[in-house]
Amino acid sequence: MSQFLQDVVQGLSARDKFLNSKYFYDQKGDKLFQQIMACPEYYPTKCEMEIFIQQTKQLASVLINHVSTFDIVELGAGDASKSIHLLNELLQNNITFTYFPVDISGNVINLLHEELPKKLPALQLHGLNGEYLQMLEKAKAASDKTKVVLFLGGNIGNVPLEKAGLFCNRLRQQLSPGDLVLTGFDLKKDPRVVLAAYNDKGGYTRCFNLNLLKRINDELGGNFILENFAHYPNYDAATGACKSYLVSTINQQVQIEESSFSFAEGEPIFMEISQKYTVEQTDDLANENGFTPVKHFFDSKGWFLDALWQCV
Ligand code: AVJ
Repeated sequence: MSQFLQDVVQGLSARDKFLNSKYFYDQKGDKLFQQIMACPEYYPTKCEMEIFIQQTKQLASVLINHVSTFDIVELGAGDASKSIHLLNELLQNNITFTYFPVDISGNVINLLHEELPKKLPALQLHGLNGEYLQMLEKAKAASDKTKVVLFLGGNIGNVPLEKAGLFCNRLRQQLSPGDLVLTGFDLKKDPRVVLAAYNDKGGYTRCFNLNLLKRINDELGGNFILENFAHYPNYDAATGACKSYLVSTINQQVQIEESSFSFAEGEPIFMEISQKYTVEQTDDLANENGFTPVKHFFDSKGWFLDALWQCV
């Protein structure tokens, strides 16, 4: 049984049904995520892009000042449209490094290998397709330099708070004292602004969620009828948890290979969490897991934080 099938069967057999949002990113999902990033309501990419464009020199110099020679590993690189500004600045300064973009989507890694050499001909590039920490191991096997890990976009928000601590702990165990991590956090803000970002008028986020059901149909022989599920995002300003659900609009049965799953009218499938943070919470996350917060980079609205941490 493939890992994908195993995870889907497990999630849909649970009392509270869930699917893992890492499976959003097939070729169609990548495209939909690009459309989400471009839509007016989705602010995180725009905020973080502003940081990478307006504070490129500060970002580069803080890295150079903390580590003499290094390689860069980017977890969840996507199209690298933010990090490219930093990479370019480092190359302009004649810094020699290898860039290891890691992504769960093979499609994304192929695209990066096609596009990045055109934009940054001097870049030493080594793409890795797979899970974050497994691919970090591979990057370490190919590099004996100090590591600068980029973990942008608020990808850390895709796990609940408790699991973020565990993730940081494991990440720290794979790194060495002195290594740097630049992590993007979407910060708590006006709840209406947050919710709108996950409920865009163009319906891209809705399609992004429904596309996973389509992927289950195509790859696992499922028979989901997409029209029978409604996209329901919600944001809890108190906990900072923004969650997306697909809610069954009727009583129905869905078949996947030999298994059958029943959905009651109104029953949700939990699809994704996008956790929002306070700055203090991000400092705590660093301090509790073997890092020291070195510097905070904010966008001009103060909506997004790129936090630089150093391994103790
Ligand atoms: C790529 C995980 C940062 O959670 O904001 C966007 C994914 N989901 N709209 C996020 C996403 C719905 C995004 N991250």
